[in-house]
Amino acid sequence: MKKRLGVLISGRGSNLQALIDAVADGRLDATLAVVISNREDAPGLDRALAAGIATVVVSHKGWPSRQDFDRELVRHLQTYRVDLVCLAGFMRLVGQPMIDAFPHAIVNIHPSLLPAFPGVDAQGQAVAYGVKVAGVTVHLVTPELDGGPIVAQRTVPVLDTDTAESLSARILVEEHRLYPEAVALLLAGGWQLDGRRFISASR
Ligand code: GAR
Repeated sequence: MKKRLGVLISGRGSNLQALIDAVADGRLDATLAVVISNREDAPGLDRALAAGIATVVVSHKGWPSRQDFDRELVRHLQTYRVDLVCLAGFMRLVGQPMIDAFPHAIVNIHPSLLPAFPGVDAQGQAVAYGVKVAGVTVHLVTPELDGGPIVAQRTVPVLDTDTAESLSARILVEEHRLYPEAVALLLAGGWQLDGRRFISASR
């Protein structure tokens, strides 16, 4: 049985597209079971529809508490029998109900070399700080923002001429390569955690 992925988005969905393309051409042996967006106008929803993937919109607004929003996400993900949750530009903190429902089975992609520059506008933070090397991180999700065990990283040089936009564009190219690879690594199994360290099976 193929593992079933649920992808959570908030916007453009280019990393979702990278997963769709990787499944289509066999780099990723999985089923894209559902795409959930917290914004009904997220362009990524059109990518899911075009690929024939079920979509659900769960607005983050209007819930009595954050946990209630989380529980609604869990409900949909369980309805679609999701094994691994992939955050792809999902700009909400993931709370305890999600972590409890999917232990070590929520993964995120972040456009910096964590633990540097967590949070929003990581690429702008990197340019403003003046680092010479930036990059991308895929990590397991814990309640701490962008703080979970690191599954994979790639570096991207920062050029003297870079703006946040130009750096973002080059990092994005690496994101689209790395995310399907890292998801495939997770799905292959045999990996373990040693404290915060992700030890892959192929070591
Ligand atoms: C990507 O650069 C992703 O790494 C980033 O948002 C962008 C979403 O683009 N995520 C974060 O910053 C999470 N903290 P996309 O919607 O085209 O995939």
